[in-house]
Amino acid sequence: MKIDYLRVSITDRCNLRCVYCHPPGGCDLVDREEILKLEEIYRIIKLFSYCGIRKVRLTGGEPLIRRNIAYLIEKLSGIEGIEELSLTTNGVLLASLARELKDAGLQRVNISIDSTDRKSYKEITGFDLLPKVTRGIYKALEVGLKPVKINSVIIKGINVSQILPLAEMSFHLPVAIRFIEYCPTSQYTKPANDYMPNHELRKVIEREFGPISFVFTGAANGPASYFKIRNAAGTIGFINGRSSIFCHECNRLRLTSDGNIKPCLYSTQDYDIKRLIRNGSDDEKILKFLKNILQKKDSFTKLNSPDGEFHMQKIGG
Ligand code: 5AD
Ligand code: SF4
Repeated sequence: MKIDYLRVSITDRCNLRCVYCHPPGGCDLVDREEILKLEEIYRIIKLFSYCGIRKVRLTGGEPLIRRNIAYLIEKLSGIEGIEELSLTTNGVLLASLARELKDAGLQRVNISIDSTDRKSYKEITGFDLLPKVTRGIYKALEVGLKPVKINSVIIKGINVSQILPLAEMSFHLPVAIRFIEYCPTSQYTKPANDYMPNHELRKVIEREFGPISFVFTGAANGPASYFKIRNAAGTIGFINGRSSIFCHECNRLRLTSDGNIKPCLYSTQDYDIKRLIRNGSDDEKILKFLKNILQKKDSFTKLNSPDGEFHMQKIGG
């Protein structure tokens, strides 16, 4: 598998407190000086572009709370090898920033919403901000950040009642509603047995809307597979991170906000690139470091085919 996709967390801070992400007492935040500076992020991505990275997605925490994000996007969109520049956001600040981000060179956005009901949105995220997020979705469509994808995590006992309203959004709006299976990340957030497998979710959708048809999107869509309700404006995607293994087709690496490269969401092995950057290493040395990680990830991917014996983790982040 060619590794050409880099997910870059530009902050560990967030303006929401989603129950499945945020431990009740809050999580330890990285000291501010440990967070990569925008110039450092730019340099790392530029060097990655020399090693085959073609797609970059900015994430968080919540990336839109990082000051000068439009400046970063403008710089990144100037890097020759980077063909695709996207962002995952909770959408709270999107209505006010969408135009500026688009003008800076952002191509598309993924927006997370787990409920279309104001009260349950507040219960899940801790804030009564659904109207703002909805405005963000419309604004993204209006300024042409296309395609707009919506990420939803359905958890038993929390938002199962939202499956149909969310699926219905894909009927009226030209968006892709993607159902991401919940993966437990810490003992403090919701327990593991709370996830709703996507095959069950699909049954619920088809009982209401009739059979949904497969939409061919090519190989470029990562782990999601897409379907369509008859006559719908948009699509429904399923990301079966829990109920299936897609490590063998994982094409991505991650850069954390405090400057570590992770070959996989679940890997315990981090590669500290910040240390290299901050101790004055030259481009050549950093490139060697990056190439070594890419090579390791490549062989890891091959080993971890579903019938292989290498079971370090199930999710190819
Ligand atoms: N399992 C699955 N998806 C998650 N997300 C955050 N935490 C989890 C989890 N534990 C989703 C968010 C967002 C995207 C970046 O990842 O809802 O849409
Ligand atoms: Fe976590 Fe995203 Fe919710 Fe923020 S918006 S708390 S980062 S899931």
